[in-house]
Amino acid sequence: MANEATKTAKLSIEGEATIELPIYAGNEGQDVIDVGKLTSQGYFTYDPGFVSTAACESEITYIDGDQGILLHRGYPIDQLAEHSNYLELCYLLLNGELPDEAEGKLFVDTIKNHTMVHEQLNNFFRGFRRDAHPMAIMCGVVGALSAFYHDSLDIDNPEHRRITAHRLIAKMPTLAAMSYKYSIGQPFIYPRNDLGYAENFLHMMFATPCEDYQVSPTLARAMDRIFLLHADHEQNASTSTVRLAGSTGANPFACIAAGIAALWGPSHGGANEGVLNMLDEIGGVENIDQYIQKAKDPNDPFRIMGFGHRVYKNYDPRAKVMQETCHEVLAELGITDDPILEMAQALEKIALEDEYFVSRRLYPNVDFYSGIILKAIGIPVEMFTVIFATGRTPGWIAHWNEMISGPYKIGRPRQLYKGSSKREYSAKT
Ligand code: CMC
Repeated sequence: MANEATKTAKLSIEGEATIELPIYAGNEGQDVIDVGKLTSQGYFTYDPGFVSTAACESEITYIDGDQGILLHRGYPIDQLAEHSNYLELCYLLLNGELPDEAEGKLFVDTIKNHTMVHEQLNNFFRGFRRDAHPMAIMCGVVGALSAFYHDSLDIDNPEHRRITAHRLIAKMPTLAAMSYKYSIGQPFIYPRNDLGYAENFLHMMFATPCEDYQVSPTLARAMDRIFLLHADHEQNASTSTVRLAGSTGANPFACIAAGIAALWGPSHGGANEGVLNMLDEIGGVENIDQYIQKAKDPNDPFRIMGFGHRVYKNYDPRAKVMQETCHEVLAELGITDDPILEMAQALEKIALEDEYFVSRRLYPNVDFYSGIILKAIGIPVEMFTVIFATGRTPGWIAHWNEMISGPYKIGRPRQLYKGSSKREYSAKT
């Protein structure tokens, strides 16, 4: 879509002619200054960490970090969490509008038709050590899907892109549960299409061939919410990775595998696992002060996991919903005096009142409570980021699809070079 400039920025560089740069307005949020023609004037922009850089135009998700607002296709996340469900949100992210009844039913049926993975894929798992981290397995097996679905790899064909989107959303929970079963030495459990999406995931995680697993509706709803709250988050590190990989024309399975790798880091999706490990390390409410001091010490790399966000400088709206869900789950399971939850609540209270956190506008993020819910459901800590990846899949695909559907260029940033200037080769004696 061609943009029309609403204003012009003037960049005056000492001793040189002023450069005029067009400014474009979005429907919400900050305007952007188009710096594309700076290269021809002999300059690059410099913005490590992309703090002030809009890398693309998008219609999928909007975040106002100061107000704590998150909209998917215009709908607020708290309304979606209350009235919608994960698969409906997947449809919305992919198609731009909510489905009517018939469209919704067709979408759910289609996803159910794709939940099984190729039997040959089981052999991939057997190549991993039993103690491999499930995210390591996921990076491998999701990338490997491109070796199985040759029939839908033409990225310029919208029908191929649609089938791939359905396959990925349907197969991610199956692969996620397989990576868990493999790590504990239990047989893989096949998906059951009479169950809902989250229910089926819990079934594949916890049933065995000898014993069925009765899924509690409260836990299935909590699981669905966890997927829903992670479904998309604008141009975060993993989504940007998917877009960058996709900009080369790479196939979607390879791009999503790249997104999974980026998500694994503790500053991104790995933080939910980090929260539980941190609470374990703190050990008790009496030690919280000591850890708050560590977090505030500029010479100590320790950070309170699950606190702070690049975009939210207010309470993360997803964390609010997650906190409510957490209470529902603990009540359902009859957990009233969980020491981990007690620590989490004490930590949250202290941090929200502490000048260091208040002045830096560091609030709990989505990962702070999701880990506690997952632990209560019985999901092992190493699986937390895998569940984040499963939930984030429709967001990654929607962004990849949006990019591929329009005109796009290969992503190729430049640099400020600080290395040696040209020098003549001379062997060291
Ligand atoms: N604990 C203690 N201090 C912190 C924390 C924290 N969790 N987060 C930021 N700070 C401090 C940081 O040291 C810096 O202080 P100073 O100004 O004195 O140097 C200031 O706050 C600004 O931090 P920053 O690192 O410049 O902020 P950023 O936008 O680059 O980083 C972040 C954002 C999420 C990587 C960071 O807040 C963090 O590491 N948080 C803990 C990990 C975490 O919970 N990540 C999950 C993010 S939400 C899920 C997702 O979307 O992936």
